[in-house]
Amino acid sequence: MSPVLEVRDLEIAFGGVKAVDGLSFTANAKEIIAVIGPNGAGKTSAFNCITGFYKPTGGSVLLNGADITGKRPADIAHEGVSRTFQNLRLFHDMTVLDNVRAGMHLYGGQNFLDAIFHTPRFKRSEAHYTEEAHYWLDFVGYRGRRGVPIRNLSYGQQKQVEIARALARKAELLLLDEPAAGLNHSEKQSLLELVRRIRDLGTAVVLIEHDMGLVMEVSERIVVMNFGKEIADGTPAEVKANPAVIEAYLGKDDEDEEVPAHGDA
Ligand SMILES: Nc1ncnc2c1ncn2[C@@H]1O[C@H](COP(=O)(O)OP(=O)(O)OP(=O)(O)O)[C@@H](O)[C@H]1O
Ligand SMILES: [Mg+2]
Repeated sequence: MSPVLEVRDLEIAFGGVKAVDGLSFTANAKEIIAVIGPNGAGKTSAFNCITGFYKPTGGSVLLNGADITGKRPADIAHEGVSRTFQNLRLFHDMTVLDNVRAGMHLYGGQNFLDAIFHTPRFKRSEAHYTEEAHYWLDFVGYRGRRGVPIRNLSYGQQKQVEIARALARKAELLLLDEPAAGLNHSEKQSLLELVRRIRDLGTAVVLIEHDMGLVMEVSERIVVMNFGKEIADGTPAEVKANPAVIEAYLGKDDEDEEVPAHGDA
């Protein structure tokens, strides 16, 4: 059986610079894969290529064995790929509930005329969407009010809503771009547990993350990028012991100035 996601020799260049330069990895159903690497390594660019926000300049992306390379974001989402963004992309003036429902409407195939004339069929589907939205907000552990605008929420709550919105699409593949960034310790613990529950739904989860403790604990496999290139792919134990990875994070002797002064604290 094909993996849910297969990335083959992926490449994207901006001007002459290759932000992603030969990335290959797979993700299976019920698997958690982490993509790590220093700032600017090309992690988000890789996600943007997989989800159609960037058109790769080389390589291919396969979803359940079918080539989706270069398709439009809406089409890729429709085929079962969902994501969150490093800089959250929620509608700030819309309510929590409407933000989650907005994700579903893109995929619900609602009839335009039904929507305009508020037919019984439209009302039934609206009720269904609302119920679903509540279900996914519960699933991510969102405890706040649901009829308030997004801008009233804490950052941690906004991140929960973004994941709920992504899940509401019932995607087979979920890409999370730095889900733990900006979260406190207990929020990170909840996130770790949530990512596992998402995996248990049968979803393939790929996450970009800088929090190494979380990455090591939650991932089955880790893909490491540096300067666009893939420098390692293995289990957490393998990656931790890989000299190329250690060098990418700590810098070589002749690049000492790049190591933060407090690095050995
Ligand atoms: N649209 C774009 N146009 C030009 N250059 C870009 C574009 N998107 C990304 N880049 C460049 O590609 C490189 C990789 O950026 P990317 O955002 O993918 O890194 P990242 O690994 O996600 O980093 P971080 O951990 O800081 O989020 C950077 O040099 C960035 O400036
Ligand atoms: Mg990034």
